[in-house]
Amino acid sequence: MRAKFVEYDCFSSRLPQDVTAEGPYDASSCQLAIHYAASNEATARTALYNISSSLKPGGWFVGTTGGFGQAKEGGQHDNEYDFALEGVVIDCPEYLVFFYAWEKLAREYGLELVMPANFQEFPGKHRLSGLTAAEAEVFPLYCVFAFQKLLCMSKNKKRKRN
Ligand SMILES: C[S@@+](CC[C@H](N)C(=O)[O-])C[C@H]1O[C@@H](n2cnc3c(N)ncnc32)[C@H](O)[C@@H]1O
Repeated sequence: MRAKFVEYDCFSSRLPQDVTAEGPYDASSCQLAIHYAASNEATARTALYNISSSLKPGGWFVGTTGGFGQAKEGGQHDNEYDFALEGVVIDCPEYLVFFYAWEKLAREYGLELVMPANFQEFPGKHRLSGLTAAEAEVFPLYCVFAFQKLLCMSKNKKRKRN
């Protein structure tokens, strides 16, 4: 297995050529960071473009994120909130990730949302034991997700799930 690591603002501009030239890749991972791309549509689109263009057909984009938003389709949703971590972070603007909207946007880039699951729902591994009351309160705002790059854009339809 080979992996490539670069320091880059991947939500504001397209990936550098030396990264894309070595692709396409089997998988791309984004841990606790994609919510920054949810600050506006342009950054979300740039993120999705970079992810999709770096993946092989059938490749996976997997990650975790805070700010798991559950808003339904339609209407404008203010998604900014201030994040604080006692003794470490003071009021950093972060953004809810409305997966319903991301699912639609991602399809434009040939990516299908296969799984969003908050940490509580994620199959059996995560339990609330040992968390403080404050930690238990924010726990459901964190989620695991997986997108798969479609084999071809013309099959850009929602796959029937069992
Ligand atoms: C909460 S930290 C998570 C760090 C690490 N992935 C982890 O799981 O411990 C959020 C990370 O997102 C990165 N980040 C925020 N905006 C970014 C952007 N536009 N492009 C690339 N990384 C970004 C920050 O530099 C920071 O390292």
